[in-house]
Amino acid sequence: MTSDVIVDLAALGADFTRDPYPVYAGLRTRGPVHRIRMPEGAEAWLVVGYEAGRAALADDRLSKEWRNAAPDLGVKQVSSGPTMLSADAPDHTRLRKLVNRAFTARRVDGLAPRIQEMTDGFVDAMLAAPGRRADLVEALSFPLPITVICELIGVPALDQDTFRHWSNTSVSAPLLDDRLAAAKSVNEYLTRLLGDKRARPGDDLISALIHAADEDGGDRLSHEELLGMAWLLLVAGHETTVNLISNGMLALLSHPAQLASLRADFEGLIDNAVEEMLRYDGPVETPTYRFTKEPVEIGGTLIPGGGRLVLVALADADRDPARYAEPDRFDIRRDARGHVAFGHGIHYCLGAPLARLEARIAVRTLLERCPELALDIHPAALRWRTGMMMRGPERLPVRW
Ligand code: HEM
Repeated sequence: MTSDVIVDLAALGADFTRDPYPVYAGLRTRGPVHRIRMPEGAEAWLVVGYEAGRAALADDRLSKEWRNAAPDLGVKQVSSGPTMLSADAPDHTRLRKLVNRAFTARRVDGLAPRIQEMTDGFVDAMLAAPGRRADLVEALSFPLPITVICELIGVPALDQDTFRHWSNTSVSAPLLDDRLAAAKSVNEYLTRLLGDKRARPGDDLISALIHAADEDGGDRLSHEELLGMAWLLLVAGHETTVNLISNGMLALLSHPAQLASLRADFEGLIDNAVEEMLRYDGPVETPTYRFTKEPVEIGGTLIPGGGRLVLVALADADRDPARYAEPDRFDIRRDARGHVAFGHGIHYCLGAPLARLEARIAVRTLLERCPELALDIHPAALRWRTGMMMRGPERLPVRW
């Protein structure tokens, strides 16, 4: 059966952006697949629920490559070049292999002292601010991940504020034209940055990638792919972990009993608490687009082939009562393993070990250094990032 009814998520406006969970849950009670109109205006097929969502993420009949997208979708690729995230095997395998080693749990654990040092610096500056109040996004959630990724890949001179504006716009702006214009600016900026790096290479990941692109006639990495790789790593560093720290701290600060438990047994509970933060209010609501290479049947609904757009609601998969009892309850002691906040299958997040480490260090430092930390806004008054891809507050006012 194919569905003729189109659920107009665009019509729900700001309510959907603020709290999409009940909308997804309502759809889930009617089945795993729905035709929707996205807030951005394009039509798509939305997969909800844990089992169907996880299966769709690993389904190789759903392509990530834009050449497989139907021409009339009303969406366009917004990036600086081809990336592993928009590639199927074998290109995906080749691109991921080039950077995999830099992001293994062992390599990343070695960064802990430096990440702690950076976090201490940001928290020192926050606590020195007058009035014992700050916006946590501005003070820590944003600068920490971007500074870490820049140092890790070797672009410490990135103009963070400018890049942040373009990156945010290219990922979350409601209008496609605005997203494309921002992506063009990012593209020009990165081209200059890579040119500088080529002139003055260092002992870092970007220099190694430039070297890989310059030798073998681009067999291992073309110049467009080099640009795409730099874009992907920097945008992933800008757009995701920021929301893990913000959404996670928001959950803790609005659940005082959970916060008290964590303070009482930090070492025993922090790893689990981070998994629960990812499950309960993860940074990625629906990941990047997938396109049908052939008709795909999910839970009795047939999604046509020919490049139809498919979105997987990670946010709903992780709130499915068939997988997690009382899913809307934030409980840092529950077994949250198996969540799909980092995706699933071959595109499973490359940066997961890094994101987890940053979150652990950020939360620990905030709780240790600010025993009185509290929200300085009612959660219902928060403004959230627009679009269906990223989920996080624009600002998170706190006091201590
Ligand atoms: C809490 C923070 C993060 C979350 C929730 C997150 C989430 C995700 C998700 C859901 C995907 C899969 C998308 C899909 O299947 O369409 C993904 C892929 C990816 N992430 Fe992350 N991410 C985070 C942090 C990072 C960081 C810090 C990096 C920096 C290296 C990173 C790099 C990547 C890359 C390169 C991919 C593509 C992997 C592939 O296609 O094989 N992520 N991420």
